[in-house]
Amino acid sequence: MPTPIPVVFEAVAPLRNQVRAWREGGDTIVLVPTMGALHEGHRALVAYAKTLGRRVVASIFVNPTQFGPTEDFSRYPRDVDADLAALAEAGADAAYVPTAETMYPEGFASRIELDGPSEGLCGDFRPGHFSGVATVVTKLINQAQPDIALFGEKDFQQLQVIRRVTRDLDMPVSIAGLPTLREADGLALSSRNRYLSAVERAVAPRLHAALEGIAKNLAAGGEAGPLLAEGLETLEAAGFGPVQYLAVRDAETLSPVTRVERPARVLVAAYLGRTRLIDNVAVAPGS
Ligand code: PAF
Repeated sequence: MPTPIPVVFEAVAPLRNQVRAWREGGDTIVLVPTMGALHEGHRALVAYAKTLGRRVVASIFVNPTQFGPTEDFSRYPRDVDADLAALAEAGADAAYVPTAETMYPEGFASRIELDGPSEGLCGDFRPGHFSGVATVVTKLINQAQPDIALFGEKDFQQLQVIRRVTRDLDMPVSIAGLPTLREADGLALSSRNRYLSAVERAVAPRLHAALEGIAKNLAAGGEAGPLLAEGLETLEAAGFGPVQYLAVRDAETLSPVTRVERPARVLVAAYLGRTRLIDNVAVAPGS
């Protein structure tokens, strides 16, 4: 028998009623915000969410305000039926699939302005992106009113921005992160991997390999500058370009780091053909 599709909400009031009823019954509610095009990584997020709380609501909304004018909003893959089937299989209790009108009604005029972890890295190349993410995630959290909201660590800067915003705005929600899910060859799972040609797909895992090499040398006491310069050369030689950034940052504040003395991250964004890939790995000092 096929797994039943989770209950689907399109409007805020019925979603809130359901969440309230669950909470009154003693359940913890976990929200997993997504833009659809769900893959194994999202299924893992939902499965992990199920370990954090009894009820899982996954939202599907391709948020226009986080895409720049030249980015892939119009070609971003959309298949809600397949997404609902994937959510059912992963064990979500409800899907929240708001319309554009629900999220951005006529006259909508507000946006969250950010400093701190939104600065640099993707923030330099995607002006307004994190403001769009922070605004939509704040709306989704206010609409669904979960106890916990869960995000993948693949978008590490996004995760830190959301942590900062929810703390700064006193939002009554805990933010959780799940380590990046990878293919056997190390490529981080991403909805955008489907854009890669066969040749590009064969090259793509070298991104992760380069990050791991840098992280290992940093953990052994190496200095960021020369390691990043060497890593950049390696990536360009492999066929990546432009490499938008390859950087070492403090894992919490995302401020630049020269030598790793506290938990840090090596982060990268690079084009492979027409596809922009991002990835990051953790560096623990002295590991
Ligand atoms: O990571 C994503 O898929 C999106 O940025 C998010 C968090 C769902 C906001 O639109």
